[in-house]
Amino acid sequence: LEQFEDIGDLRNWVSGSKRSGKTVVFVPTMGALHEGHSACVRTGRAVMDSALVVSIYVNPTQFAPGEDLDRYPRSPDRDLALCRQWGVDAVFTPRQRDIYPENRPGPVWVAVENLTDPMCGAGRPGHFRGVATVVTKLFNIVSPDVAVFGQKDAQQALVIREVVKQLFLPVELRLAPINREPDGLARSSRNRYLNEEQRRVAVSLYSSLRHALDFVRSGERDPEKVTAAVAAELAAGDGVAVEYVELRNAGDLSALETVEGKAILAVAATVGTTRLIDNVVFRVDKNESVEETLLF
Ligand code: PAF
Repeated sequence: LEQFEDIGDLRNWVSGSKRSGKTVVFVPTMGALHEGHSACVRTGRAVMDSALVVSIYVNPTQFAPGEDLDRYPRSPDRDLALCRQWGVDAVFTPRQRDIYPENRPGPVWVAVENLTDPMCGAGRPGHFRGVATVVTKLFNIVSPDVAVFGQKDAQQALVIREVVKQLFLPVELRLAPINREPDGLARSSRNRYLNEEQRRVAVSLYSSLRHALDFVRSGERDPEKVTAAVAAELAAGDGVAVEYVELRNAGDLSALETVEGKAILAVAATVGTTRLIDNVVFRVDKNESVEETLLF
């Protein structure tokens, strides 16, 4: 396993890999690695003859004021051990001062409008501008042929897709399906904040989405009825505060008048003091069958 802190060293390694005919695959992360990241690495590994780079960088600009930047879980030694175990070829841990230099006249931002207004964008001001900016920087440093993101952060994946498309970035995006604990809780670095009781209650994010999908399967097509059912089920849990429940078009996150086509049902809720998100993406086809699917 190669390890790079220096941008120039990482770039030399990437150039060498490309020269020897490898496809460079990139999985950006903020560390505190878990099985969800391993699913992204597996999706990346499916690319034949690849050199796989994982970046580990807790990006300060995607945390809104008052969020958990200072206590975001960090486990550098364990992360390296996991990368080794998962067959990652190189780990890139850039320095803060290289990613956000202070000796410049002013910062450069990448911002995606409209798509970032609803859902997590509404509750986390500046979050997606931070994500879009750091991912653009990382793409320009790593120059990957393929990059993998997880479907759990669905809005993030759509934002990155738009950045890639509209800034003509030469990278192919792939998505890894949501990786879940045996009881259905979506894996997340923030799950480790939950105590035993909160952990038990947290599964309601997933179970409420499953029940909503059954509701749609049984013929319900009013988005408000579906989201209200999810919100009610979530709110019934001890210590659960619902931030949003949204059922939207899965391509552009526009509002739906009726449940049709490819849709995303997404939730954010705080369990105790831990903010969790989850979603299901499904397609209602012409004969009204409802199939779960990937975002793209
Ligand atoms: O999904 C994440 O872990 C982060 O948002 C990302 C994409 C690594 C950017 O900091």
